Amino acid sequence: MSKLIITGGQPLHGKVKVSGAKNASLAILCGALLAEDEVVLDNVPDISDVRILLEIMGTMGVKVRWLGEETLSLRSPKNIEDEAPYELVKQLRASNLLLGPMLTRYGKASISLPGGCNIGIRPMDLHFKGLINLGAEMNLERGIIQGKTGRLTGSRVYLDFPSVGATENIIMAACLADGQTVIENAAKEPEIVDLANFLNALGAKVRGAGTDLIKIEGQHLLKGGRYTIIPDRIEAGTFMVAAAATRGKVILESVIPRHLEPLTAKLREANVEVEVSEDTICVNAANIEAKSIDIKTMPYPGFPTDMQSQMMAFLSTVPGTSIIVENIFENRFRVADEIKRMGANIKVEGRMAVIEGVASLQGAKVKASDLRAGAALVIAALMAKGETEIGDVHYIDRGYANLEPKLTSLGALIRRS
Ligand code: EPZ
Repeated sequence: MSKLIITGGQPLHGKVKVSGAKNASLAILCGALLAEDEVVLDNVPDISDVRILLEIMGTMGVKVRWLGEETLSLRSPKNIEDEAPYELVKQLRASNLLLGPMLTRYGKASISLPGGCNIGIRPMDLHFKGLINLGAEMNLERGIIQGKTGRLTGSRVYLDFPSVGATENIIMAACLADGQTVIENAAKEPEIVDLANFLNALGAKVRGAGTDLIKIEGQHLLKGGRYTIIPDRIEAGTFMVAAAATRGKVILESVIPRHLEPLTAKLREANVEVEVSEDTICVNAANIEAKSIDIKTMPYPGFPTDMQSQMMAFLSTVPGTSIIVENIFENRFRVADEIKRMGANIKVEGRMAVIEGVASLQGAKVKASDLRAGAALVIAALMAKGETEIGDVHYIDRGYANLEPKLTSLGALIRRS
């Protein structure tokens, strides 16, 4: 298994271009199943989550062709293979986003229940509630989700929690259902808006994405088309926090500053200078007196849970006491134990982590336990004195394209072994 070796202590300086959004790409790739003709996607990030999903779709009969480094062509088949291969599906929770499109286009779906992962239980009750409301027969046998239906019928669905994945599955299922579907208490993340814009470019009628009330008028089939995926706000946020943590100055290009407002607000609260223009963000932390802050993760537009671990790393050497409350997932503080091995002072009590800033971190051998924990360890290693070795780097490769070259261009001393 490859490792990342990082020698810390250099402030990051320079410019970096952010890649396409992982969480928009995964939903949009599944949405491409709804189109009768070719779909071409630009700004697709070259990350392992995308490659695994494409492999799953390939086994189902989807024609997948890379037309360029970040440009993809997809042609969905008239009929699909019944079951996505367990070996692949178990690696990727987001394969559950195939359910809605498969049911509404082909009348059947058979996906292995994507197990829980390292950050929480990850149930699917809200996905099932929505698909059953639309008329699908869903059951779970021996860890396999079986769904079948004739034609789905539009309905009203109230989400007990604004689940991103459930909102996406129901939107996609509703696109080819008979009549109107209304989703109440829908998730409002930018990736939902990007999925809706993509589907509407193919002829769908999705209204209200980005609000908690989404209405979808079912169509017969969607046509093909071309679409550019939004920049990845969590990759961007990770570089913003790395710049703050190393007391450097970094300009992020090809971003949508509005998507990062919750993080920008918190960094400014911590005395980090953040300037935004139309499609760039400049983080300047040179010579600042960073200040401890409190964070609670919430559904968008609250502070994103996917940025929580990275902020924990940054706050570990900010003088004073910072408190993080994780309201989205049950088990998303695992990285605390690894950062403590580098000298941090963090106490975890249930959904709360209390961080007492220390003077500095020291390099150590650590291991990533999930994608964003891995990103947090990269930030901790960039801040630390000496050399850090990060194991289980495959978690990081799930969501960060070309991480080493991007960080090296900012002055980081990083290599893969
Ligand atoms: C998406 O996961 C993202 N993944 C996650 O990003 C992100 O952390 C999460 O949304 C929250 O923003 C993708 O988009 C591929 P949820 P998803 O359904 O859809 C509960 C990353 O690092 N819930 O909004 O699985 C669930 O238990 C990943 O890029 C139910 O109770 O998240 C959790 O507590 C990690 N029942 C909460 O909702 C359900 O049926 C949020 O889950 C579904 C979810």
